[in-house]
Amino acid sequence: MTAAAAGEPLLSIRGVRKAFGATVVLDGIDLDVDAHRCVVLIGASGSGKSTLLRTVDLLEEVDDGVVLLEGEDITDPRRDADADRARMGMVFQAYNLFPHMRVLDNVTLASRLVHRVPRAEAEERARAILDRVGLGSRASAFPDELSGGQQQRVAIARALVSSPRLMLLDEVTSALDPELVGEVLDLLVELKAEGMTMLVATHEMGFARHVADEVCFLHAGRVHERGTPDQVLGDPQQQRTREFLRRLA
Ligand SMILES: Nc1ncnc2c1ncn2[C@@H]1O[C@H](COP(=O)(O)OP(=O)(O)OP(=O)(O)O)[C@@H](O)[C@H]1O
Ligand SMILES: [Mg+2]
Repeated sequence: MTAAAAGEPLLSIRGVRKAFGATVVLDGIDLDVDAHRCVVLIGASGSGKSTLLRTVDLLEEVDDGVVLLEGEDITDPRRDADADRARMGMVFQAYNLFPHMRVLDNVTLASRLVHRVPRAEAEERARAILDRVGLGSRASAFPDELSGGQQQRVAIARALVSSPRLMLLDEVTSALDPELVGEVLDLLVELKAEGMTMLVATHEMGFARHVADEVCFLHAGRVHERGTPDQVLGDPQQQRTREFLRRLA
């Protein structure tokens, strides 16, 4: 793997377009995420936040444009998408844990099957990560024996286990009861403090304000407005951004 040149963004999205049939969802997205930074995507339902994250994670093909990870064009179809995807940890709104598998097996599955890490090594690493997310004692539990917040922390552990360069987080607290949101957001705050690079779709404006280095408002397939949280959330310059924030208030 080539190390990113000094000053080069860890992730660089350049001119990305994506349509589903006649619906143009991403219409030329340019967005950079520097190492150790947290960029937050906000925007109305249907504005393309999930599609953009899925495009970066190579779950959707781009129609045009490129996604560069550490300077390498990961949208090049000749590349090994599994290997590139392993450099990113994606967490979804629905935790997508396997209900019939214990927590430890959920966390080790991809490393054992896709990356062929020996079981003992995968489990040692998984236990360390589960400790990290505060669930070291629940490795033998089944997902439905855990709270929603705990399940989401398992999903975050599963994403962290491959030591990703970048975390992609899509509304990871939206399915949680309000009293469980804090424990997941606190974990993300800690990951940021430890230097993790993150691209996050959220409607948790408190989190955005507290953790984001940059907030990007998506509208009509574009980054309609971007800036620091203070700028975009506190003093939006665009009419559409103001309307969106007013509706949330
Ligand atoms: N696989 C698909 N096939 C067809 N249309 C899709 C597909 N995935 C997304 N879309 C459409 O793309 C648009 C953007 O959807 P997307 O899920 O990216 O929005 P979002 O900003 O994440 O919304 P939300 O805030 O509700 O999660 C929507 O109009 C959606 O219906
Ligand atoms: Mg979405």
